Amino acid sequence: MGKVIIAPSILAADFSRLAQEIHRVEAAGADWIHCDIMDGHFVDNISFGPEIVTIVRGLTGLPLDVHLMIEHADHYVPRFVKAGANSITVHVEPGAKHDVWKTLHQIRDAGCHVGLTLNPETSFDLVEPFMEKIDMLLVMTVHPGFGGQSFRADQMQKVKRARSLNGKIDIEVDGGINADTAGVSIENGANVLVAGTSIFHAKDYAKAIRELRGHPGNRAKG
Ligand code: DX5
Ligand code: ZN
Repeated sequence: MGKVIIAPSILAADFSRLAQEIHRVEAAGADWIHCDIMDGHFVDNISFGPEIVTIVRGLTGLPLDVHLMIEHADHYVPRFVKAGANSITVHVEPGAKHDVWKTLHQIRDAGCHVGLTLNPETSFDLVEPFMEKIDMLLVMTVHPGFGGQSFRADQMQKVKRARSLNGKIDIEVDGGINADTAGVSIENGANVLVAGTSIFHAKDYAKAIRELRGHPGNRAKG
């Protein structure tokens, strides 16, 4: 597995000075910018939409990793493509109310990195049929909707299974990722780490990113 990819989640950023936050985290060594889109229906929280993604697009050249925690993602995909998303990840749960095959093709046809994700409560069986059709599997390590939650180590068996099924795709983990949980995620096969609180609530963003990347268990140092 190549370099570990660090994707700070701007959900934890100080939105009153978003431009500084984006420039600061990019200078600190971020590889991607993770954008959490919540609609108050698929998850019990509301975050931001394509307009904010467009603003972030204008602030950085880093890849934008858009995580859609919304119902009817297929209806909104074109707006996030237009906003400048490089990667779009949709949920596999029936509660997301979209035709997963169709939406994955829609993202592919738009030239974006195709991501699929499952909640901790969701069986791996639901994503297995798609493993050869996606560029990235996002294994949620918290139930989606809020930052600052505790990492669920029981989800590592899904990471391990996914990596055993496909040695090429990106495997992303999201939720409760910090210097203590980064290593076990990478040891099980993840190569993309989303982190909100552990970066944006840190005094030194560069040190926080180095710790995520340089955890003793992380053999694939960036
Ligand atoms: C939660 C989001 C995560 C969250 C991560 O639903 O998908 O990206 O912002 O935040 P931390 O790293 O604080 O758990
Ligand atoms: Zn996320």
